[in-house]
Amino acid sequence: MPKLTFLSHDVFLIENDGVKLIIDPFLTGNPMAAVKAEDVRVDWVLLTHGHGDHLGDSISIAKRNNATIIAPFELATYCQNNDCKVHPMHIGGGYNFPFGRVKLTIAHHGSAADLGGDALAYMGNPCGFVVTIGGKNIYHAGDTGLFLDMQLIGEMTPLDVALLPIGDNFTMGVDDAVKATELLKPKLVIPMHYNTFDVIKADPQEFKQKAEAKGFAVKVMQAGETIVV
Ligand code: NI
Ligand code: MN
Repeated sequence: MPKLTFLSHDVFLIENDGVKLIIDPFLTGNPMAAVKAEDVRVDWVLLTHGHGDHLGDSISIAKRNNATIIAPFELATYCQNNDCKVHPMHIGGGYNFPFGRVKLTIAHHGSAADLGGDALAYMGNPCGFVVTIGGKNIYHAGDTGLFLDMQLIGEMTPLDVALLPIGDNFTMGVDDAVKATELLKPKLVIPMHYNTFDVIKADPQEFKQKAEAKGFAVKVMQAGETIVV
């Protein structure tokens, strides 16, 4: 069964049968980071969008580990141009990797990177991921607002775990994340993307209470904590 480790913000490590995936490895400059980027050992890097708090250490981690970056096409191309191995995908597409299946979902958000200079670097559309690994379906929403199509995600792939942002301002806040949980109907929901910065301060216990009141199981993970899915 896959192991899921929360490393703060949107950063999750998934391990199954000796294969390790990391999602959105923003560690350097992340005040809540549970590990240092240079200590990360992974085989795959999954990247939802080009904002600095998601792209983060992806390129250095991928290069150091000879890991492949899985990302939306434009962002994958940027990583390839920076000497990373990549597997580009796009919204609605799934692919069977050696470790399991990854499907890209919509996310209502932006995806440009500030690389210096006057113009932002365009990185295409942001995404979420449904990762099927070790017989479990794990949905990482990425940065997104609430959308009704979340209902389809849960219908097409019954979810064992949903990782949902609750920090508000840039993404769903607590109440919208509770509604998202009702649409997705996961067996377990884990809040993310909160308290890393002042502007996304949120109370995960408030989310837990409200989602539990709707009949859902919630796990508030501490940075560095691991669960078996
Ligand atoms: Ni973002
Ligand atoms: Mn973000």
